[in-house]
Amino acid sequence: MRIRSIQGESVSVVGLGTWQFGSREWGYGASYALGTAAELVKRAIERGVNLIDTAELYGFGASERIIGDALREDAERDLRDDAFLATKFYPVVPIPAMMTTHCYRSAQRLRVNQIDLYQLHFPNPVFPMSSQMSGARRLVERGVVRKVGVSNYSLSAWQRADRALGFPTFSNQVHFSLLKTAPLQELLPWAQTNDRLLIAYSPLEQGLLSGKYSPDSRPKDFRRLRPGFSERGLRRIAPLIDLLRQVGQEVSASPAQVALAWLLHHPNVVVIPGASSLGQLDSNIDAASLELNERQVSHLTEVAVSLNRP
Ligand SMILES: NC(=O)c1ccc[n+]([C@@H]2O[C@H](COP(=O)([O-])OP(=O)(O)OC[C@H]3O[C@@H](n4cnc5c(N)ncnc54)[C@H](OP(=O)(O)O)[C@@H]3O)[C@@H](O)[C@H]2O)c1
Repeated sequence: MRIRSIQGESVSVVGLGTWQFGSREWGYGASYALGTAAELVKRAIERGVNLIDTAELYGFGASERIIGDALREDAERDLRDDAFLATKFYPVVPIPAMMTTHCYRSAQRLRVNQIDLYQLHFPNPVFPMSSQMSGARRLVERGVVRKVGVSNYSLSAWQRADRALGFPTFSNQVHFSLLKTAPLQELLPWAQTNDRLLIAYSPLEQGLLSGKYSPDSRPKDFRRLRPGFSERGLRRIAPLIDLLRQVGQEVSASPAQVALAWLLHHPNVVVIPGASSLGQLDSNIDAASLELNERQVSHLTEVAVSLNRP
């Protein structure tokens, strides 16, 4: 597994997204929550993935619990040290006391003494940045958090967070994919010149970029209501899906793997695709070793940027 070295930490370029774990909206049911999810965690670790991304919000704690149990399931082989555990604080009232309570609860569900990366899930413009970051700083000083990250922050908010924290944040987790190319403009160049990690969420656009959905075959869960999965949305991205298929044929890979490899072509970027099966996980992990050439990357970027224009 390829890694990114950021601030002395080694993070696998492909991580595992776990919003799906124990979350009703995905509709994966009990067999997924009680079986497949833990298998995904263990298989990911076995294959050299260390970045496991979760949040207190996912399944209202269920996702963190599933991960914590999966890592500690085998008494003979504790997997905790093989993982770089990233979770998120839901910052409705991001005052230090609240953040501390929530952080300890997350650590308890994850069954760890220390969280590798604690991220603020969204910017909260109502509370002063200084108060939000002093809560995060305190958690690092107490040793319950190793690295502080943000999520869904613009560049200026990210830089303000850094200044308020008093030492460098580690990462910004943002929506970044061939259908969401905005991070290429400011966030990525800044991450590259400042030793920060950009964690790309929804890198497959929730399955859209796999090319398996069409106007006649749309998902039955919450995604059905999302504009991208409407008949119009699916028609709009058809040229991109065709190109992903074409490049996929050239490099013997699936459209989803090409979509991930395009993201990973950019330095300081890691991806955290979710998976509904072990087969998807394996395929996503294999994308880490897929190299696209400059012509393929430029062509994909050109089509993606044209689709990203309003
Ligand atoms: N910070 C934030 O605000 C934020 C927001 C969203 C997500 N996230 C994080 O990012 C992670 C990933 O984002 P996401 O789950 O929204 O979207 P995603 O990773 O783009 O899509 C995941 C879905 O795509 C399908 N899929 C995955 N691998 C596939 C493959 N190889 N071939 C075909 N289909 C495949 C699966 O759904 P089906 O099989 O059912 O089609 C899977 O559930 C989340 O789990 C979460 O950890 C963070």
